[in-house]
Amino acid sequence: MYVCICNGYRESEIEQTARASGLNCPVAVYQVLGSGPCCGTCLPMAQDVINDALKSPARPKIDLDDLPLAAE
Ligand code: FES
Repeated sequence: MYVCICNGYRESEIEQTARASGLNCPVAVYQVLGSGPCCGTCLPMAQDVINDALKSPARPKIDLDDLPLAAE
């Protein structure tokens, strides 16, 4: 899901950047991603995404090749 339409930032990018950097401010996370906010409409939602990312452990990556195939 897109959080920031102006910059095209998805929830997953913001979440991963917050976790990797430990930054808890949307403006700082956006700067790491390569830009700053434009209209600012997204900042409250980005802050919620960052807060959730920093208080919960990273979701494990699932390798689709490891999943069992459906019964044939
Ligand atoms: S939607 Fe993020 S700055 Fe405009």
